[in-house]
Amino acid sequence: MKDLRAYGSYAVVTGASSGIGAEFARQLAAAGLDLVLVARRRDRLAALAAELADRHGTASRVVVLDLLDDGAVAELRAAVADLDVGMVVANAGTSVPGVLTEHSLADELDVLTLNGTVTLQLAHGFGQDFVRRGRGAVVLLSSMIAAVPVPYQANFAAVKAYVSSLGQALNHELKRDGVDVLVLSPGQTRTEGLDNTPGIDFDRLVGHKMDPSRVVRAALDGLGRRAHVVPGVVNNVADLMSRYLMPRRLSVRMYGRLIGGALVGDARSVA
Ligand SMILES: NC(=O)c1ccc[n+]([C@@H]2O[C@H](COP(=O)([O-])OP(=O)(O)OC[C@H]3O[C@@H](n4cnc5c(N)ncnc54)[C@H](OP(=O)(O)O)[C@@H]3O)[C@@H](O)[C@H]2O)c1
Repeated sequence: MKDLRAYGSYAVVTGASSGIGAEFARQLAAAGLDLVLVARRRDRLAALAAELADRHGTASRVVVLDLLDDGAVAELRAAVADLDVGMVVANAGTSVPGVLTEHSLADELDVLTLNGTVTLQLAHGFGQDFVRRGRGAVVLLSSMIAAVPVPYQANFAAVKAYVSSLGQALNHELKRDGVDVLVLSPGQTRTEGLDNTPGIDFDRLVGHKMDPSRVVRAALDGLGRRAHVVPGVVNNVADLMSRYLMPRRLSVRMYGRLIGGALVGDARSVA
């Protein structure tokens, strides 16, 4: 793993109040970075800040923000303008599994905005800062299901495909300016998000649920060396198969069966 402090002394992590984001904060603090912890739940962020100070002696700035609010990313950048920020992890994300037309448009637009628009705003804003400094790192959270169209996660898979494309192209564009960009595409990872997403029971899906610590370790090991990381050997094989070996219509049908079979409640009755 690179010396992450060479990017700058602070890392901004969105969605740091649980799951993969909280684990990024823990591993970055263990690597000697100070943190900017961003999410809506203040109590969670404050508890994490105290834990990191206790374990690693690192400083944390808690920024309580709903990233779906207008101007939220500008507000975040203003809130950290006095810090030596060298890394941003655009991690906050949500999904609403089920049949798209059964959901409100507002819910689907929130998925698109949080996973897509906010990610673009973070990469653009902090990316400009890092290019000016000639160093920095941008980590964008995609998903393994970005590889192909996925029924019952149609909008989520589509926006994660956008994130994956955006980040891998940016990796090339910003390299000459000393900025490392990485797309992280986890498979199923045991988080609150996985356990609490309404409309789906991920335990009904085949496949191992990875621990967030392994997912984040794979990302930090790949940062500066790779443009795209899919954590886990099995996930890599599945990713390669669905991307290159299976005809796309078969992949779509397979995902339709898999995800459709894991839907619960109202989501199940319409699938
Ligand atoms: N877990 C998986 O299997 C998996 C697989 C592939 C990709 N991913 C991606 O990995 C990322 C993290 O997922 P996770 O499983 O760790 O999710 P999680 O446990 O549900 O955590 C999501 C985080 O995002 C924050 N968040 C949600 N809406 C927000 C908003 N409007 N404004 C600010 N923060 C917001 C949440 O904090 P608050 O509620 O406190 O705001 C929370 O900290 C996501 O982008 C997800 O799509 C996850």
